Amino acid sequence: MNVLVIGQGGREHAIVKALHMSCSVEQIHAVPGNPGMRTEAVCHSISLKDVGGIIKLCKRTDIGLVIVGPEIPLAEGIADQLREVGIEVFGPSGEASRLEASKIYAKEFMVGAEVPTASYRVVQSVQETLEAATEFTAPYVLKADGLAAGKGVAICNSLDQLREVATTYFEDKIFGIAGERALLEQFQEGWELSFFILTNGSDYVSLPLSQDHKRLKDGDIGPNTGGMGAVGPITVKSELEQKIHQQILEPTVRQLKKRQLDYRGLLYVGLMITPNGPSVIEYNVRFGDPEAQVILPLLQGDWGEVFQAVARGNLPDLKWKPLYSACVVQAAPGYPEDPKKGLSIEGDPLVQGSSSYFLHAGTSYADETWRTNGGRVLNSVGIGSSLKEAIQNAYTQSENVHWEGLQRRSDIGHKVTD
Ligand code: AMP
Ligand code: GLY
Repeated sequence: MNVLVIGQGGREHAIVKALHMSCSVEQIHAVPGNPGMRTEAVCHSISLKDVGGIIKLCKRTDIGLVIVGPEIPLAEGIADQLREVGIEVFGPSGEASRLEASKIYAKEFMVGAEVPTASYRVVQSVQETLEAATEFTAPYVLKADGLAAGKGVAICNSLDQLREVATTYFEDKIFGIAGERALLEQFQEGWELSFFILTNGSDYVSLPLSQDHKRLKDGDIGPNTGGMGAVGPITVKSELEQKIHQQILEPTVRQLKKRQLDYRGLLYVGLMITPNGPSVIEYNVRFGDPEAQVILPLLQGDWGEVFQAVARGNLPDLKWKPLYSACVVQAAPGYPEDPKKGLSIEGDPLVQGSSSYFLHAGTSYADETWRTNGGRVLNSVGIGSSLKEAIQNAYTQSENVHWEGLQRRSDIGHKVTD
């Protein structure tokens, strides 16, 4: 079959690469894709808002399956629109995507599912926020309801700080309508873990666990980012894993079924492991980036067949290679606030080792020169028979390129290998 991947970052390049290795897949197309995937996929510069144009492309290139990478087109209902014209899609419906697109919707869903989650109040003005805060203890967590490019969550140590942040949401309207309403939430102590499941809305299979590194700098300091690197698989105590299945994943999927949500895709369940047990922080309706980059190469099998089965509402048995993988993000200077574009990249971003390669996340190519064209520019992926070896391979790969002001953490995976 021919497949179409929607999106343009490192996660989508990882999906393209996984499909490139799949015997079930003939041609790969991407909208819009990126120049680093051009040896594997045909890229088409169509706006993600132009679903009519995407449908025409699907007909013209005989696409049998569409895989949607990012959340915004899912929230805008691309999966429904494609299914309406008979195209198979890996990705949840617009209604189901509200699990990520509206934190209030997600919270109400969690309460309905009876999964553990932080207590909360819905607020829509500064005054209401400060009144509701009397029910909580500092630090206060204020979350803009809508999609805010990962920036809509503030952790405030004092009421003064909460007032300032609430003013930016409700009066300065920094997130526009995405911040018209917000969740005020009890802060929870603990450590974070994400579970990825493939689900058809009534059953699920889980993927190997991986660990993301959200902070910009070594030692988990600096601003939050989309993710500076990941390693996997990692393991947690089997009692904890069992609890997560029983208390969180099973009731979540039961609730999908109860609400008759059309969920055929990946559900990312973000957890806080508190002293009282696991608690749900958030749902995302797509693969994590850069977690996808480490999980996808570990399948012993054909991702084309897996995505197609899920798109049809079936859940395949998954087998995994006895290998490890690591992804180290190389970012532009100024990331995450204001990444500098257009810097020329020294070295060859298409070079590969025997167990390592680059995935492109924010590059451009013109006049025989590669340049930075986004925040997280390149991902170096390393595969190995141990986590240490995988990490070493990823770092060795990363030395093949350089640009002025390149940002890269040097401690990806240290927490699980030290
Ligand atoms: P979210 O976008 O909901 O995942 O939140 C972004 C980050 O904020 C999470 O990854 C956590 O680090 C932190 N966070 C969110 N909610 C809470 C909470 N209730 N208690 C502590 N930290 C939180
Ligand atoms: N790496 C976190 C995310 O994709 O949301």
